[in-house]
Amino acid sequence: MDIHVIDKTFTPFITAATIDARVSEMAAQINADYEGKRPLVIGVLNGSFMFAADLFRKLTIEAEISFIKLASYKGTTSTGNVVTAIGMEENLNGRHVIIVEDIIDTGKTLHAFMPEIHNRQPASVKIATFLSKPDALKYDVKADYCAFEIENKFVLGYGMDYDGLGRNIPELYVLKEN
Ligand code: IMP
Ligand code: MG
Repeated sequence: MDIHVIDKTFTPFITAATIDARVSEMAAQINADYEGKRPLVIGVLNGSFMFAADLFRKLTIEAEISFIKLASYKGTTSTGNVVTAIGMEENLNGRHVIIVEDIIDTGKTLHAFMPEIHNRQPASVKIATFLSKPDALKYDVKADYCAFEIENKFVLGYGMDYDGLGRNIPELYVLKEN
């Protein structure tokens, strides 16, 4: 059944059961890759909160979780926007860090933010994203774990919003164009 949010119509795209199965597969992969490494999972708010919670509860290895929010502001450099992390209190030195994102669209956000992570000298950094849109990618960002690669269409639900709404929908919807 289609749903209406503000002025747009969205149609069912990926069911909760399919999401659950893929998140389980990703968790199994991370369990295997990080056994004995006690990774620090860092969820990027707001969009990743649901995916991060689902993924994290399926980890059976020792792991820690923390959340950050990215704030982008106009910097003084010629490159324009600067992205800074709010709430990053953990010492990343020597840690195995897994950044958890809802979606890599153009890649701009993570591209701008990753240097801040690397500057803190973690032992390793990987990116786990729920979605990526390969056709929309404009920056050199690559996910190490990706649940679904999708077409370049606007999606809603499972933590992702349209103008603040729809984050609570437990499955994924896609914008209906007609
Ligand atoms: P990027 O910097 O272009 O990669 O954009 C990443 C951010 O844009 C994501 O973390 C989302 O918050 C938001 N975003 C990108 N595509 C969508 C979408 O289809 N639906 C909802 N939010 C999106
Ligand atoms: Mg986001």
